[in-house]
Formats: sequence, structure tokens, C-alpha cells
Amino acid sequence: MKKLLRAIVLLVSFPIFAQQGGMWVPSLLKGMNEKEMKSLGMKMSVTDIYDVNNSSLKDAVPQFNGGCTAEVISSKGLLLTNHHCGYGEIQSHSTVEHDYLQDGFWAKSYEEELPNPDLEVTFIVSIHDVTKEIMNGVDAINGEAEKKAAVQKNINDLQKSYKREAWQSVMIRTFFEGNQYMLFVTESFEDVRLVGAPPSSIGKFGSDTDNWVWPRHTGDFSLFRIYADKNNRPAKYSKDNVPYTPKHFLPVSINGVEQNDFTMVYGYPGRTQEYLPSFAVEQIVNDLNPAKIEIRDKALKVADGFMRQDQAIKIQYASKYASIANYWKKWIGESQGLKKSNAVAIKKSFEQEFIKRANEKNKMNEYGNLLPQFEKIYKEITPYTLARDYFQEVVLRNNELLSVGFRLYQLENAFTKGGEQAFNDRKDNLVKGLESLYKDYNKDVDHGIFNETVKLYGTKAPANLTPSSIKDKDYVALGNDIYSKSALTSYDGLKKLMNGKAADVVKNMQKDPGYALAKSLADNYFSNIAPNYDKMALELESLQRTYMKAQLELFPDARIFPDANSTLRVTYGKVNGYQPSDAVTYSHVTYLDGVMEKYVPGDYEFDVPQKLIDLYNTKDFGPYADKNGKLPLNFIATNHTTGGNSGSPAIDAHGNLIGLNFDRVWEGTMSDIHYDPAICRNIMVDARYILFVIDKYAGAKHLIEEMKIVKPKETKKAKR
Ligand code: ARG
Ligand code: ASP
Repeated sequence: MKKLLRAIVLLVSFPIFAQQGGMWVPSLLKGMNEKEMKSLGMKMSVTDIYDVNNSSLKDAVPQFNGGCTAEVISSKGLLLTNHHCGYGEIQSHSTVEHDYLQDGFWAKSYEEELPNPDLEVTFIVSIHDVTKEIMNGVDAINGEAEKKAAVQKNINDLQKSYKREAWQSVMIRTFFEGNQYMLFVTESFEDVRLVGAPPSSIGKFGSDTDNWVWPRHTGDFSLFRIYADKNNRPAKYSKDNVPYTPKHFLPVSINGVEQNDFTMVYGYPGRTQEYLPSFAVEQIVNDLNPAKIEIRDKALKVADGFMRQDQAIKIQYASKYASIANYWKKWIGESQGLKKSNAVAIKKSFEQEFIKRANEKNKMNEYGNLLPQFEKIYKEITPYTLARDYFQEVVLRNNELLSVGFRLYQLENAFTKGGEQAFNDRKDNLVKGLESLYKDYNKDVDHGIFNETVKLYGTKAPANLTPSSIKDKDYVALGNDIYSKSALTSYDGLKKLMNGKAADVVKNMQKDPGYALAKSLADNYFSNIAPNYDKMALELESLQRTYMKAQLELFPDARIFPDANSTLRVTYGKVNGYQPSDAVTYSHVTYLDGVMEKYVPGDYEFDVPQKLIDLYNTKDFGPYADKNGKLPLNFIATNHTTGGNSGSPAIDAHGNLIGLNFDRVWEGTMSDIHYDPAICRNIMVDARYILFVIDKYAGAKHLIEEMKIVKPKETKKAKR
């Protein structure tokens, strides 16, 4: 414990010596960050990264469809992101005759680029601190809910009144858990077309087995293009639109990366929780993660059994399976990592230091009660959080019949509250929206998942928060009854059920056993779980705000960064391997050779396209090989990233693109809660592999020609 405490104090008081992760606001890098970045080897200034009056790196880095990041890599609006970020678009253009997921896709001209109706990318124009405006009058208000409402009103007002151009939007987000507010002026482009994608055997090589794992060999990239109107402004899709001329685009470097090279990752990390008290981390490790993992474990096993037997089911469930498996696997790694890195003990010794400092600075009145309060509420809320997780995972996430039932439940509520008109408006959209769900629906798979997951819910969720409709039942009989009688097991059945006048439809719904069960679970959720959970969660939110404020105040020299909130951030570090366990050392780079080592002919995860094998055998790597003649594939570095950073550019000391972020290493997946610089690494595709696939594999030289390629300076290399 003493050792831990010393480590903590060291970290907190000598921040510059250990590179500690962090996701920083790009407009606030001057000072500590700039110094640290330069000491790590950065040759740019922070105004090259973010500037309002001149073009800067930020003008090349939009958010991609809300959940990923992308970067502009040519003067003609060419956009690079991950294969797994463009997956939905690639899939939507695929048919049995043209299976772009399987075979890849390469547009040979602008005319062949494929429009995507629901895709948009959003650039940041400028960032402003608006804390004063948003907190105006809030302190004087009593009551947490009332305070929250006042903040929301100030946000809405400022959002409306803030000056912007006609084609721009304004978005306001909280930082440091309610202690700071930032306003973003943004520009969204809605005409974004698919330009190129490698086959899944390159873009998704290793699939779920290799997901979250190093060493990795995935060419996880795809290419799009932004189109604008004649004035270079955002516009809806039109065939008259032209390729967008960006304010800045990233040159692509084929200089390569070496151990200890500076890298920064620029993008839109979604959510982290780095400042939780130890009690919250204990809850995650001991209660929440195990429950969620167990549910998904069962659901995945059922789906996998069917997918292995039946090719049609495999296609129907591929994308759903990947998305359920992604966080299932992440939670397993996260729990292991939190335990192995002693996250709870480290938090606890930090809490002792917190109390010590609060005492020294005479702040016990204000902050002395925080930790006991946290402990008390986390204890009280745990059964409610668990019950909520069971409901969300089983009803909303893993079981499709119940999730349709829940949508119908909302429809019934719309009828109760808004009458016939509200019902009909909602019904038409709902029925239309569910067509795509039923296209990929298999009754037997869903039935199997129902039996397993409802059983877990009924037997393992806190008993006093579980409704009698699923408590201690014969789950096989329950499943048989529902899946033989409910209309919700097919799209035709659903449409028939939805036919008629609102009052009749609702009456028929209530007679349906599938709907009846979903309704009983939803009723239980909204009357027994949500009200208590929401009340305590609001108290925790208020405690967390004060705790955050206190940490900033009591640890003035600490490197405290705001938790990720889907806004543009900079993270930086060095290219470096790591030691995952005793006697095991991972180096920082993988090569195409590793693809051939993992190659399993015909396997759905580890097959390799013949053309790639040929290129490997003839060593036809063009200018993309390293100095030893090997083709680099993926590399890792100490950049602190999270979900949403997928597709983010990895940028070198000079502002060139050297890689494309797409994942993290297994041992470091706990970095959303506790970042450990010894083992947390982000995984990137080497820019040279991306160019190699475009150039040598796909023969799409015209795309290479529109980029600005930064080539090795022979003289500089020779001197080393
Ligand atoms: N783990 C990465 C991220 O969280 C990649 C996920 C996509 N790949 C996959 N095999 N599911 O998004
Ligand atoms: N794969 C993640 C993403 O899609 C990135 C991560 O979690 O490291 O954003």
C-alpha cells in the first residue's frame, strides 16, 4: 500500500516525467501540453493543430457519422476512415452479385463513387468557453433537478442566439462533469460518397478473434469523398455537387515509424470515466461487468451455434454478432485489466491523499463528506443499476422479439397520452423502421437467445426488482409458448397486428403473449427500477461534479484532463511496445509476414485473398516496404484513445498522416476507467500498408496521385 501511495504522489506531483495519457481540448494546448509534446519530439506549434483564423490540422479531421472519426487526405475532399466505421455503407451497396464486403470496392472515377443517404461528416469551425453564460444564475437555485433544468435552459438559449453562418450549427457540451461548458461551431456535410474499400479479408482480417488484441494484422480502412455545392458549402446530395476543397488536408508520409517516435491522435473519443471514486470501480468490476458479460456470453453462444450451421443465418447475424461481441470482449478485458493494474487500490490511496489535502487546506467542511456519501449511495444504487442493466441488455439489446415489444409499448403509451393521431403518426414510422430488423431476423436464433437470457434475468437479477412474469419460471415452456403464439416473430405477423384502429390494435397487442411479456418487463422497469435509479444517479452526478471540482482545486499541478465526451481531442505519445505479462514482450510493429502466419484457407476470420498472397510471394511492395524490405502493417503507441477514436489520424511530429487508429490492446482496455501507461496502447494501421493496398492490391493509382505523399529523405536516413 505504501508503495502504491508513493507512486500516486509521484504521479500527481511530477506530471512531466511519466507520460500519463489524457485527451486534451485542442484549443487549450498552450503551456503544459505544448511543452510536453515538444519534449516528446513534436516539431509543430500548437497553432498548427488548432487555429481559428488560419487553416490548421483540425480542418482536416471531421467526426464521421456521429460515432467515428475521419480525415481529409487530398485537396479533392478524399476521406479516410476505418473499414469497421464504413461497414454499414459498404454493406448497404452490396448484393449477391456485387458483394463489396467480400470482394472490396474501388471507384475508378468520380462517377462511380456511391452516395450514402444517411451518412454525414461534421467539422469543428471554432471552440469557445461559455461556462459563465451557462452557469449564469444557477448557483442561487436550490435542488439538483432544478439546477439541471436551469443549465439546460441556458444551453438552449445560447444555442439559439449564438451567431453563426446559415450553414453552420452550434453545439454545447459539458466538461469536467458540469464544471465547464464549451461551445462548438460546426459544419456538417451530407453528400459523402463511398470511394474504396478493401475486401473484409483485409479490412476485417482476424475479425472477432483478433479484436482488441495485439499482435494485430488488420487493414481496417475505407475511403469516402466529401461533396459540396458550387460555393464549396455543405449541401444535400445532388449530382451537380462537386468534390469539396478542404481548408486543410493531411499529407501522407511513407517515412514510417520507429520506436519512440512522437505520434498524436486527433479525433472524437466518446466516453471515459477517469475520475470515479473507488466504490464505482468496485461496482463495475464486481457486479456490473460480470452480469453483462454473462448475458452476452449466452446470447453469443446461441447465435454462433446457428451461424456455423447455416450460411444465410451467418450473413443475417454477422453485423449484430460483431457489435454484441465487441463490448462483450471489451468488458472482459476491462475487468481483467482493472484487477491486474490494482485500479481499486490505487483509487483508494488517492482518496486518502485527497482527504489529507482537504484537511491541510481547511476544506473538510466542503469536501469531507464526499467520499462517505459516494460509498453510501453506490451501495444503495447497486441493485437498481444491476436491475437496469439486466433490463437493458436482455430486453433492449439481445432479444429482438422483446425489443420490438418494447417499441410497441412506447406506441401504446403514445396512444394513452396523445390519442389516435399520435398513435398513427408513430405507428407508420415504427412499422417502416422495423422492416430492416425483420430482414435479418431468424425466429429460432431469437428463441434460443430468449430462453437463455430471460432465464438469467429471471434468476440472477435482484429478486425484489424482478417481475413475477419471469421469476422462477420454466423458461423452456415460457419460450415455447411465446415463440409459437406471438405475432412478433415475423414481419407479416407484426404488420397484421398493427392493422386497424388504434384502440383495436392496442387491444390485440395486449392479447399477444410476446407483447404482454415485454409490457410486464417495461412496466416493472418504469415503476420499480427507473424512478429510484434516476433519483440516486442524480445525487451521484452532483457528488461527482463537486468531487471533480475538488480534485482540480486540491491537486493544482496534476495533469487533469476532461473525460471524453464525443468532442474533438488531442492525445499524444510515443511509438512503443509493452510487456503484457511475465517474460512476454511485444514489439511495436507487425508485418505482412504475420498475415501469412495467421492464414487459414477458407476460414471466415483468417482467409487471405490470392492477390495479396501473390504480392507477398513476389515481394512486390513498391515504395512501401521498410528499409529491410518488409511491409509494415500495424503499430502501437501510448496514445490514450477510446471508442469514437476509430478512424482517427495518427499524425507525426510534422503534421503528416502516418497511420490510422482503430483499436486498443487487450491488456489496456481498462483505459476508459484507469489509464496505466505501462500497458495501455492504441493500435493503428501503418499508412504504408494503406497505400500499398490502394496502389498494389487494388491498382487504384489515381487515388494515390491525388494525395500528397511525403517520401523519405534519403540523405537524412543515410546519416542515422
Ligand atoms: N474493437 C474495435 C472498436 O471498439 C474494433 C471493432 C470492430 N471490429 C470487430 N471485429 N468487431 O471499435
Ligand atoms: N475500436 C474503437 C472505435 O471504434 C476504438 C477503441 O475503442 O479503441 O472507436
